[in-house]
Amino acid sequence: VIFETSEVASKAAALEIATLIKKKQDANEMCVLGLATGSTPKRLYAELVRLHREEGLSFKNVITFNLDEYYPMEPDAIHSYVRFMKELLFNHVDIAPENYHIPDGTLAKEDIADYCKEYEAKIDALGGIDLQILGIGGNGHIGFNESGSLPNSKTRLVALDHITRVAASSDFQGLNNTPKTAITLGIKQIMQAKQVLLMAWGEGKSSIIRESVEGPITEKVPASYLQEHPNSIFILDQGSSSQL
Ligand code: GLP
Repeated sequence: VIFETSEVASKAAALEIATLIKKKQDANEMCVLGLATGSTPKRLYAELVRLHREEGLSFKNVITFNLDEYYPMEPDAIHSYVRFMKELLFNHVDIAPENYHIPDGTLAKEDIADYCKEYEAKIDALGGIDLQILGIGGNGHIGFNESGSLPNSKTRLVALDHITRVAASSDFQGLNNTPKTAITLGIKQIMQAKQVLLMAWGEGKSSIIRESVEGPITEKVPASYLQEHPNSIFILDQGSSSQL
């Protein structure tokens, strides 16, 4: 779906989420959301906060699982995704702290594999993700599933691509300070989400959006796997859709 601007697009995405949350409330069910970080979903989160404050949207029945976290990463570090999510969403809505989950960047390396299994098991025990929000990396990564990630890939510790680290390096004041690894939800779990909303803004994303939507389904461009997802929508603005 192509919108005039990212503002309008973000509001439409927020409305879709709010509608699902309310539908689940009416049915007395929990709503399981998969959440993303990066610059792309910032406006979406601002709009969800506005809907909470001004229109009484409650997050009491919402359980969230974030896609990824840098490793290693302290939760209160300036660039941690824990901090990002608290500052942009969780601190401003009525979600219970035990209901949001973000991969733990402080684990000992030998504990990561078990932790990732538990992270997936928690999602599975809830019946899977109802709605997964995604951004997209310049190389087509989703979460931190870089090029080469296979369709059956699990939640795991990954090495970040050079191109991903370069994109993040300005946040970290240079490549030397930029993490080399991250924990990410795998492609398999993302593909099992009942609904996926991938958002992308600006011309800089237009060629990878074209490859993801119109190119072959390939592990080189993990977002291209979504072509086979039965209920995935790319939410684009004029810039990101300009090469379609
Ligand atoms: C990071 C995140 C991804 C995100 C991507 C794009 O790599 N782990 O989940 O989609 O960046 O970031 P941005 O939205 O800032 O373009």
